[in-house]
Amino acid sequence: MNVHIAEAKRILVANDRGGYTVPTERLYPFQWNWDSAFVAMGFALYDTDRAYRELERLAEGQWADGMIPHIVFHQKSDTYFPGPNVWRTSHTIQTSGITQPPVFAIALKKLHDAAGDKARSLPLYEAALRWHRWWYAARDPEGTGLVALLHPWESGSDNSPAWDVALARVPTTTDTPVLRKDTGHVNASMRPRDEDYSRFIHLVDNYAACGWNPEAQWQKAPFKVAEIQTTAILLKAGQELEALARELGRTEDVAEIAAFNEKTRKAILAQWRPALSRFVSRDLVSGQDIEAPTQAGFIPLLSLDLERSITDALVAEMSVWSRGLKVAFPTTKPGFTGWEPKRYWRGPSWAIINWLLIDGLQRNGRPEFAEQLRKSTISAIETEGFAEYFDPTTGEGCGGLSFSWTAAAYMWLVKPRSNCSGE
Ligand code: SER
Repeated sequence: MNVHIAEAKRILVANDRGGYTVPTERLYPFQWNWDSAFVAMGFALYDTDRAYRELERLAEGQWADGMIPHIVFHQKSDTYFPGPNVWRTSHTIQTSGITQPPVFAIALKKLHDAAGDKARSLPLYEAALRWHRWWYAARDPEGTGLVALLHPWESGSDNSPAWDVALARVPTTTDTPVLRKDTGHVNASMRPRDEDYSRFIHLVDNYAACGWNPEAQWQKAPFKVAEIQTTAILLKAGQELEALARELGRTEDVAEIAAFNEKTRKAILAQWRPALSRFVSRDLVSGQDIEAPTQAGFIPLLSLDLERSITDALVAEMSVWSRGLKVAFPTTKPGFTGWEPKRYWRGPSWAIINWLLIDGLQRNGRPEFAEQLRKSTISAIETEGFAEYFDPTTGEGCGGLSFSWTAAAYMWLVKPRSNCSGE
């Protein structure tokens, strides 16, 4: 076996906490939502039972209203802030109160394809459908087709320059003392700033005061962004959910899911901005487009069959951003004022983002560009190890090490190409 695959598997064993996988020890000592979905896809390649366990354990955190939270606190740990006492939610297993990109149904489809275990897939399909209904009810109450985030943590791209304007409106005052632990584990220059954390916690306090009620939060939210990356992931997941509905004999759900997908497909297309060669998110507080150049604007490749002219423009823009880099794809356009190549989501390259982009480029008939990105990601991991992310200018592995989703991504990226998108 390739030594790196053996190492990837070893990391997933080391990060196992009993049927679920922590993203990395100490820095993230609980189960994270989209991390686990990527990890489940890694397990689906060689241990489908463990892959099912990963999703089943995540679904244990699902709320009665359908939301699957971004963190499930299965066990106690004092190495992370904010813990359950800050979130003040009321689910039986302690959880955070916000959500994360809905990769779950994408993972379930790959797992079902690999294992074909209807009895085990069905409850997870039902959990995914409840979650998708929650997205449309709670985060798109006006029926626009784009889903909104109420906290930057929900994007998974916590301190992206995409939030700079919207987050600046959020006060830095907090009821909860901000007692960061992350900067004790990795260099502060690779993490969000203290000011960002004050605003992040202000939002948590604000929503806890709403009793985590979605309608109250929607009314009171000082941060509300109809977000293009999350919506594009939701559409891809919706497409997989529609296929699963048919495969699992749930034909009564098909029309509902297909209607979600069609509404969202049209809404994403309406966010195409030819002058920027990207799709954009919308700040729902100001009503303005968010024009900061981040990776999010390219993620619709994953879930839409785009016109040739749009794909050409996206790929040309992606090539400009990638020029001269040691490892693509940067999460912020190099040279942009907010670009910081080592600071978390303000510039670094992430293997899971590349995985989504590679699948999207293949879907839209650009296998050569997909192949370049795939090789550059594999080479960064083989050189630097399974880091949380990579400095695109130097290739240096940054953030947490022995990272679960980087291990899962590596296994997909080195998989023989004919099946690389799993479709
Ligand atoms: N990514 C966040 C953190 O760094 C939480 O989701 O803690």
